[in-house]
Amino acid sequence: MSARLRHLISLEHLDADTLTRLLDRAESLREACAHGTRKLDLLAGRTVLNLFFEPSTRTRTSFELAARRLGADVVNFDLGNSSTSKGETLLDTLHTLEAMHLDVLVVRHRESGTPEYLVKHAASGVAVINAGDGNHAHPTQGLLDALTVRQHRRDLHALTVTICGDVLHSRVARSDVHAFAALGVREIRLCGPAALLPAPAEFRNCRVMEDFDAAIAGTDVVIMLRLQKERMAATQLPDEAAYFTRYGLDGARLKRAAPDCMVMHPGPINRGIEIASDVADGAHSRILEQVANGVFVRMAVLAEVLGR
Ligand code: NCD
Repeated sequence: MSARLRHLISLEHLDADTLTRLLDRAESLREACAHGTRKLDLLAGRTVLNLFFEPSTRTRTSFELAARRLGADVVNFDLGNSSTSKGETLLDTLHTLEAMHLDVLVVRHRESGTPEYLVKHAASGVAVINAGDGNHAHPTQGLLDALTVRQHRRDLHALTVTICGDVLHSRVARSDVHAFAALGVREIRLCGPAALLPAPAEFRNCRVMEDFDAAIAGTDVVIMLRLQKERMAATQLPDEAAYFTRYGLDGARLKRAAPDCMVMHPGPINRGIEIASDVADGAHSRILEQVANGVFVRMAVLAEVLGR
């Protein structure tokens, strides 16, 4: 059996066994909750700290719910009211919070590499979970996307997954590629305008395409991404109407995909920019299932890093 993870920073280098163990755990927690269990005491007496330096709706809330449903205490570090706004360094913030005794640090930060940096400096008993760092990684999103696909498709080896939009700035795309590639997905296509695509060398195991009509053809899963303007230079900003015409997912374009194609999006969605409302709310959409799965995946990851 693969070794237990002490931290979760990225899905890169995690093998299929480890990913499958986490997904199986999330699935059994989902079943326990479906059978009426509202709260487990697996993490009773443990403290989880949500340290979010960037806005978040889904991820922060679902880490909080996941920790509470496992019986842990949760503290949400409110950045607006913290000493970071008074110039305290990240390390001083870390050591201050550690002195109050914490077991897990869930961190989101605009700079890639911050969670790794905290692993190096945190006390040995503290587990760090990356809730999204810059454009680097968003491992729990990669896991919940894989879980959502796995719930609908038993044989991942037969699948084509297409990720479309602002791939360049997307930590979600990177973690999705790591998860789907390790789990044996047959073909991964990355699509977007040239200015928002990463260098091909970064994704040797993917087909990088600029034509969305070609990329969506016959695909089993399409994952749409938001234009992450907060990470874009002014020169990269596309005209939104023109962008939708070439890269937006509407009903007509969806018809080019496999008949039972799953439509996914990590959220927040921008209706009419990367996805039409009727598709986001339509029969193919798995977007709210992704949100629901996020809680179970985060429960599984918390239990994993705490060795429970
Ligand atoms: C994503 C993120 O923050 O990376 N959202 C999320 O966590 N579900 C994607 C995004 O912000 O567009």
